[in-house]
Amino acid sequence: MTSQLHEASQPLLEVRGATVNIDGRDILRDVNFSINHGEFTGLIGSNGAGKTTLFRVILGLQRQVTGSVLVHGEPITRANRSIGYVPQKVLFDPDLPIRARDLVALGADGHRYGLSRRPRALHAAVDEMLDAVDAGSFADRRVGGLSGGEQQRVLVAHALISRPELLLLDEPLANLDPGSVEEIIALLHRVSQRQRVAILLSAHEMNPLLPVMDRVVYVANGHVASGTTDEVVRPSVLSALYGHHVDVLRVHGRVLVVATALPVGPAPSDQHPEFVVE
Ligand SMILES: Nc1ncnc2c1ncn2[C@@H]1O[C@H](COP(=O)(O)OP(=O)(O)OP(=O)(O)O)[C@@H](O)[C@H]1O
Ligand SMILES: [Mg+2]
Repeated sequence: MTSQLHEASQPLLEVRGATVNIDGRDILRDVNFSINHGEFTGLIGSNGAGKTTLFRVILGLQRQVTGSVLVHGEPITRANRSIGYVPQKVLFDPDLPIRARDLVALGADGHRYGLSRRPRALHAAVDEMLDAVDAGSFADRRVGGLSGGEQQRVLVAHALISRPELLLLDEPLANLDPGSVEEIIALLHRVSQRQRVAILLSAHEMNPLLPVMDRVVYVANGHVASGTTDEVVRPSVLSALYGHHVDVLRVHGRVLVVATALPVGPAPSDQHPEFVVE
């Protein structure tokens, strides 16, 4: 009961006025957003927008940061057990003698399973996680030999086995074919609903996420806009974020963000606007 009241009254995660300055350059400026329990949030931005930096802020790994990050209303600590993380680049050597199920077990919280004292409980938890991400059929293969989509499933299971309340996924859809993108999104959505895990997933492309996304955190130009897709993905909000005019086109259920690279105002006649299409 207490935890339900707790859930109803405050967001799971709050980022308040976060500014990241690296080598004299503001990478992110006055970032504010919150994430509620069990919500699926897309962190959308192009290369270099600051998505990975924002994950590092949430994880308490980014040093050059002002502002605050609160989990359950309390300042974050490093190695917060409420937060699971699947980093952007994970390269496994094909010869690494670690099976998928070993990697999942490595994500387990030793305090919960007592590792050496309760191997059977750990084994059952690993099997349950492998099932949850449909990875049972390749559980005994070496991770380095798995496809990109199979590795993503194993990494998600690795992050989920410690039962975090928030799962951060940094570009888990990169390098996957469209079919695998759909499968991984459906899987994450299913897991987030069944296990009531909030998800913050970064991507360049928001279209595949539209069916499952409760909210969007859109990063551009060092600033962030957050809200539902309808609230954020509109010309007025994105133009203010980018600092120049942006159109939002909706075509066949897809959203296209079309931005001129020129500042708002009359364009000099010898310059052609550059289009950025998402
Ligand atoms: N340790 C660092 N030192 C210097 N610059 C950094 C550092 N970390 C990040 N940056 C810069 O901050 C900006 C944001 O980087 P970040 O990796 O957060 O972007 P991103 O949105 O994750 O990009 P991508 O989509 O390519 O992964 C980039 O310009 C990057 O060069
Ligand atoms: Mg990144």
